[in-house]
Amino acid sequence: MEIEIRPARERDIPELARLIAGIAAYHESLDPRARFDWDEIRNAPNWLKLVLSRDHHAIWVADHGEGRLAGYLWIHLRRDRQGYLPRVKGYINHAFLDEAWRGQGLMQRMLVPAYDWFRSKGITVVTLTVLHRNWLGSTAWYKHGFEDFSHERRIEIGGQAPKRK
Ligand SMILES: CC(C)(COP(=O)(O)OP(=O)(O)OC[C@H]1O[C@@H](n2cnc3c(N)ncnc32)[C@H](O)[C@@H]1OP(=O)(O)O)[C@@H](O)C(=O)NCCC(=O)NCCS
Repeated sequence: MEIEIRPARERDIPELARLIAGIAAYHESLDPRARFDWDEIRNAPNWLKLVLSRDHHAIWVADHGEGRLAGYLWIHLRRDRQGYLPRVKGYINHAFLDEAWRGQGLMQRMLVPAYDWFRSKGITVVTLTVLHRNWLGSTAWYKHGFEDFSHERRIEIGGQAPKRK
């Protein structure tokens, strides 16, 4: 079946909202510390309209027929306000394919127009974050050329004071 990679449009919103709930559920299943505000996720049809209208955000979709989506890639520009260079970086915000469509090179096909979009805006560096326990996603990003750069650490400080080791 021919899968079309194209920019998202407003009538994709119900399918995109379904996939956004999919990526949230996927992350929650990987690590109990990853938690989402499900009211906000359910409200995606409203905030996606705004995202689609902003010129520093862009979404590509993989359409497998009549607007049914296999997945999406949502990117945006991030301005650094602490002096790091480059001042504006490209950021991979969400990248998600339904399970049946993974491992077939679809994300690579969406990354091609995404990189063109970044380059058209003068972007030279693109970053993303990936959950430490998302082994499949992490492996895929290495294969797509993303290298380790910084590392986010986390501590839970509610309740008792954490012990030093
Ligand atoms: C990560 C993801 C976006 C990559 O997209 P993709 O189109 O599957 O990527 P590719 O087809 O180029 O495959 C990349 C690697 O994924 C892995 N992969 C292969 N089949 C897979 C499958 N069925 N399921 C998951 N990963 C698979 C392999 O390591 C593959 O590399 P290889 O082909 O050299 O063996 C996609 O697998 C996905 O949506 N995963 C779940 C959500 C996720 O983790 N998103 C990233 C959050 S940061």
